Amino acid sequence: MSSIEELKGQLAVVTGAASGLGRGLCSKLGEQGARLVVADVEQKALDSLAADLRSKGVEVTTVLTDVSKRDEVDRLAAIAADIGPVDLLFNNAGVSEAPQPSSGLTEDDWAWVLGVNLMGIVHGTSAFLPAMIERNQGTIVNTASNSALGSVGFVAAYTASKHAIVGFSESVQYELWQRESAVKIVVSLPGAMSTRMADSARNRPAEAEGRKPSEAELAIMTAHISHGISGEQAAEIVLAGVSRGDFYVVTHPEDLDTATRRYEGLMTGRLAPPVAPIATE
Ligand SMILES: NC(=O)c1ccc[n+]([C@@H]2O[C@H](COP(=O)([O-])OP(=O)(O)OC[C@H]3O[C@@H](n4cnc5c(N)ncnc54)[C@H](O)[C@@H]3O)[C@@H](O)[C@H]2O)c1
Repeated sequence: MSSIEELKGQLAVVTGAASGLGRGLCSKLGEQGARLVVADVEQKALDSLAADLRSKGVEVTTVLTDVSKRDEVDRLAAIAADIGPVDLLFNNAGVSEAPQPSSGLTEDDWAWVLGVNLMGIVHGTSAFLPAMIERNQGTIVNTASNSALGSVGFVAAYTASKHAIVGFSESVQYELWQRESAVKIVVSLPGAMSTRMADSARNRPAEAEGRKPSEAELAIMTAHISHGISGEQAAEIVLAGVSRGDFYVVTHPEDLDTATRRYEGLMTGRLAPPVAPIATE
């Protein structure tokens, strides 16, 4: 995709579509004339998204999908393929544990956060990439976070998952270059967005239910992101980066300073102090 005008008629799949950045992406993609397949674990929120998009004339299909489950993502890919070749996949679904000391995280906490954030992207890429390679066309946009540019304390699972997404995305892009494929990977690194992410536990599956975040933990996380930009604003920045053909898309320019400080630290063997630590009380 070389320009946003070229979105007209393109088929885009968005995971984690029903809220925040995903919803913003759907709204902006729809405005530009894309056809959408929208996936999420929240059926009601998906229905409300679809009604909103249809009222604006957007062609949309909803697919209830838990991205941490490979068979559900394969089903999503099959439904999308029946509609037409997929031009754009946004691997966007993501969750965060409540802020807490890393040693208190349980196996279920790790399985949930890595399962959605990292394995969700692995599943999406595995399910959609072969057809894109076959067509020699398509773009996969993976949502990481600015916490992959400079790590954040007290959210170890989230931070680890987002670093892993960047490494995975870089590796797959190198693979595509070496295969001389025109298919592109993009990794977006959003800064704070005022979304429902602080309340991620609302979607935690019953089989890995875990401890509910306390009111105080919710308040800490909400305060960390509530000053952020809206999902729609972030979506506009992400889509502009995709149009330019960027590999990394940073939504908050100040995060580039964080990355510089991190790499300066790497040169001298020292960890740079955290830029925006999560308040712990
Ligand atoms: N909000 C921020 O400040 C911020 C900053 C950097 C990166 N991000 C990333 O942006 C992405 C979108 O998050 P958001 O801030 O819009 O949060 P959000 O909670 O508003 O939206 C996330 C969406 O993902 C869905 N979801 C959760 N688990 C799922 C699963 N297993 N399968 C499919 N869908 C699932 C939720 O139902 C929700 O609709 C995430 O990857 C998040 O890590 C957010």
